[in-house]
Amino acid sequence: MKRAALAFILALTATAAQADTVVVTADRMVDVLAGRTVANPVVVVTDGRISAVGTADRMPALPGDARRVALPGLTLVPGLIDMHVHLGGTPLIGGYRRLEFTDQFNTVLGVPNVKATLEAGFTTVRSLGEEHHADVALRQAIDGGFIPGPRIVAATYAIGATGGHCDDNTNVPSMARTAPGVADGPEAVRHKVRELRKLGAQVIKVCATGGVFSRNTDPGAQQMTFEELKMAADEAHMLGMKIAAHAHGADGIRAAIRAGIDTIEHVSFIDAEGIKLAKEKGTWLGFDVYNTEYTLSEGAKNGVLEENIEKERRVGTLQRENFRKAVEGGAKHIFSTDAGIFPHGTNAKQFAVMVRFGMTPLQALQAATTNAAQALGREKDVGAIAVGRFGDLIAVAGDPLADVSLLESVPFVMKGGEVVKDARAP
Ligand code: ARG
Repeated sequence: MKRAALAFILALTATAAQADTVVVTADRMVDVLAGRTVANPVVVVTDGRISAVGTADRMPALPGDARRVALPGLTLVPGLIDMHVHLGGTPLIGGYRRLEFTDQFNTVLGVPNVKATLEAGFTTVRSLGEEHHADVALRQAIDGGFIPGPRIVAATYAIGATGGHCDDNTNVPSMARTAPGVADGPEAVRHKVRELRKLGAQVIKVCATGGVFSRNTDPGAQQMTFEELKMAADEAHMLGMKIAAHAHGADGIRAAIRAGIDTIEHVSFIDAEGIKLAKEKGTWLGFDVYNTEYTLSEGAKNGVLEENIEKERRVGTLQRENFRKAVEGGAKHIFSTDAGIFPHGTNAKQFAVMVRFGMTPLQALQAATTNAAQALGREKDVGAIAVGRFGDLIAVAGDPLADVSLLESVPFVMKGGEVVKDARAP
């Protein structure tokens, strides 16, 4: 055979066999599925997905050209998942000050926001409400390799009632604007679900009650009827999507659970009946228990209106008490922060608050990993260091199950087998 032909065949065989393999070793690994810590883990990632998980004394077979990443002294943790973020904009501009900025300002700030989120160890996020399809644009830019950022599950606009929490209530009547997610009555809600999906939504968000940061709404009051919520849930599910409900008030929470909504966000005033219903239905609860701190200390200087700060004072304390009751009552929890109300990249500050109000560090970490993956319907892809899932892992110094606040400083982040941050001390 001619030399050139032989070389060509050899090159072909090499390409076919050439999988990209990276082997990660560390001192410890948190196995969130088994709920324990493993010593001297070895994690093999092949072409972006985890292909083997072992320990140093029982090394999996490795190809000779495998890349090595040794993380002595560190603990491996699955890439974190925040189930409730708003990726555009900044918390530094509150209240009417946002009227000074052009429409695309939010999307532009989304670029550093997604980078900060990823570098904080959040390799997957769910965007629950964003203007101008900024979350779809960011997802496209990230998935296309143009900018760094987490995997994004996008809701685009939140669906809600006229004048409700997810409408735009900040203008004088002659300039009143209806937010694009507004829909009144079950048929309009059905149409809105279909329209959002057509334009890039992968998950649906509904605003079942009033809220803290909207003008002229009462967090305790229900704003969508049971029939509207049920229509949204049925339509989303028929189209293969999950659905999340913003709900502070007890009535709205119960209606949303009965309607078959998958995750309840905020959950502030949930009552005993609501906790019981959530357990019966298997509904996930996402209490955003950190942002009270930020809003009460920084809100006023950022321009947040007194109306909203006053609501935060009322909601925050009760929400934390009810979080404790829901944890003690054995409800299922996801990690939902509402990042965007506080600066992106500081999402992990919520872990310590969850532990302060009744969770073990393992429960808090499971909320942001295995539970979140289940609630997304993505347990084959994310949420654990396990064979078949994406090579999304982070490493922290020390033992996060002893001190959960260690998750606030993440020196090492890998997404899909690529090292996206390595800030270890040399
Ligand atoms: N987006 C939510 C709202 O405006 C934020 C609530 C924040 N406060 C709280 N205590 N969780 O209603």
